[in-house]
Amino acid sequence: MQDSIILGRPDDFHVHLRDGAALAAVVPLTARQFGRALVMPNLKPPVTTVSMAADYRERILRSVPTDLQFSPLMALYLTDATPVDEVARVAESDFAHAFKYYPAGATTNSDSGVTALAKVYPVLEAMQRHGVVLCVHGEVTDPTTDVFDREALFVEGSLQHIARDFPALKMVVEHITTLEAAEFVAASGANIAATITPQHLLYNRTSIFTGGIRPHLYCLPILKREKHRQALLQAATSGSAKFFLGTDSAPHAKNNKEACCGAAGCFTSHAAIELYAEAFDSVAAMNKLDDFASRFGAAFYGLPRNVGQVTLKRESWTPPNEFAFAGETIVPLTVGRNLSWRMV
Ligand code: DOR
Ligand code: ZN
Repeated sequence: MQDSIILGRPDDFHVHLRDGAALAAVVPLTARQFGRALVMPNLKPPVTTVSMAADYRERILRSVPTDLQFSPLMALYLTDATPVDEVARVAESDFAHAFKYYPAGATTNSDSGVTALAKVYPVLEAMQRHGVVLCVHGEVTDPTTDVFDREALFVEGSLQHIARDFPALKMVVEHITTLEAAEFVAASGANIAATITPQHLLYNRTSIFTGGIRPHLYCLPILKREKHRQALLQAATSGSAKFFLGTDSAPHAKNNKEACCGAAGCFTSHAAIELYAEAFDSVAAMNKLDDFASRFGAAFYGLPRNVGQVTLKRESWTPPNEFAFAGETIVPLTVGRNLSWRMV
């Protein structure tokens, strides 16, 4: 049995770091594990311009511990009103790497998102022309649509159209949760890729209701049936460069998760690489983890590999059940769970 593994220092191509006092709580945890992270722009107000992203990046950098090398990669929030010119500014910038497409109403702080795909067609055309990446939250937003069907319907109704109308657009389908999304990405050209979270590799929708309701397993897109988890595990460990690491670690205060209407988001930044190791090990695919965590994402974004390495050891340990969070606390995905790999 393999007892340790050395990986290139990994990247997280989808993380929520929030803002203000929250940064000091979560940035050090991400920076400890990852050399770079693509930081989601769903703040209030959203990060819609390169200039706002520059300021946000400075605020993040102030929370990076001095002994760690960490580079925040910035994503801009796409709205109906995003000017076509902003695309060129992203293309010229050395820290902004993508636009994030939230269908309006799909998730946390998505009210300013896109209300109709057609409204952003001129911007998508410019992104295709400039080689700027589009990151997509892939769910339909009709509130009457069954929550478990929203991703598959978006693949059919929107992603197929974007891929057909912008055949060279670089697109990342974020946090895929279904067989349908995995098949769409696998069948597309090399310009279309996907991130996969640890929770979608480790849990299914029944996990949310095991012995009671487990709010710390609730995120959007929601966990799906076991057959979808199996499809995601297969995609992540397939060796295809189209699938790479993006945690979607999304901190919310404990009070907002353990509430009568709990917020969506799983927090994993404290043990992200260990959670992926757990998933890859479960299908005897530890030899595929380095590419998934440290190589494929960087290659897709046209970035060099990080300098440095991380070592994981097989060791049973229990992560803390709460983390400080700007005067409140965060309860992580791992609450009540032991992990069998540990970053040393
Ligand atoms: O569960 C989620 N939480 N999904 C998202 O898309 C957003 C995120 C957040 O910002 O909390
Ligand atoms: Zn997210």
